[in-house]
Amino acid sequence: MNKNIPNELTYYLKLSDAVVIVDEDQFIIDVNQQYEAITGYKREFLVGLSLECLKSSVTPFVMYKSLKRALRERQPWSGTMVNVNKSLELRYSFLTITPIEIKGIVYYIGVMRFAEQLLIEEMNQNKIDQKELFKLLALSSEMRDVNIAEHLLNVQKLLEEFLLSLFEDKTYKLSLEYVSKIIEYSVLHDIGKSGIPESILYKTGPLSVYEKKIINMHPLMGVDVLNKLANEMNNKVFDDTKIAENIIKYHHENWDGTGYPIGLKGEEIPFEARVLSIVDVYDALISNRAYKKAWTKEEALSYLKEQKGIKFDPNLVEVFIEKVIHKNSIFL
Ligand SMILES: [Fe+2]
Repeated sequence: MNKNIPNELTYYLKLSDAVVIVDEDQFIIDVNQQYEAITGYKREFLVGLSLECLKSSVTPFVMYKSLKRALRERQPWSGTMVNVNKSLELRYSFLTITPIEIKGIVYYIGVMRFAEQLLIEEMNQNKIDQKELFKLLALSSEMRDVNIAEHLLNVQKLLEEFLLSLFEDKTYKLSLEYVSKIIEYSVLHDIGKSGIPESILYKTGPLSVYEKKIINMHPLMGVDVLNKLANEMNNKVFDDTKIAENIIKYHHENWDGTGYPIGLKGEEIPFEARVLSIVDVYDALISNRAYKKAWTKEEALSYLKEQKGIKFDPNLVEVFIEKVIHKNSIFL
């Protein structure tokens, strides 16, 4: 044990998560075994290093800025980091840093949780099934949003109804297998939000241009998480990674080409993403969010109509209005 560490802090090193203790000047003064295992570096190597050294080029710059500011102001901070370990593997981690003052000296306790890693281990030991894994992954991306579980379930439920009516409509020539994969993978669409700083994700005021740019990175970050997961699990939970990838990558593309991250137009946008985008937007509109109050179903419906052929595939949005909203609603 490092002799500079007050007794009160040694407790933290016994936690089952990866723990790093940093002094006031942001130099590492101790780490536990889990931290060594996760980073691939030995304690002897890490102690004395500045936290700066562990900075990776893959975590958005704005994350470090907000982390540094919090440390300077001795405020607790939490967010998601993207790290590269010694074997050059990407690691997404939830990091919480708490300042603790002992005898007039401030220390920072960093606790890291690698949600996906924990989940993958559970999955490989058959402790959880694929459905549960997807749900947990999706939830862990937006942990602080209490409404998110409900939103994901609603989206899945509406999507199921929507796709089944499209399946029955023979013009779309959909196979049941394809339809069920879209439903299954839909919960993962925002998985890339795990890489967005919480301070931006849950900001109540208007976003700056730069913050918007960071948020707009979530589809691409999501693809990265997906690929990593698929590799780690030897593709055993994804029968069709392409469908999952299309949903994650293109669910913010617009029919008229004004969406992100690529700006695809019309039928260039994969069908699964076009379908999900309608349901996702509709459910987001009728739900309460940190930055807005829920719209009424009537208001959401007029938005869908207004965005026909602009944001949404005109034919698909028509089917959604007719077969899902009208059928479900007693107000309309
Ligand atoms: Fe999204």
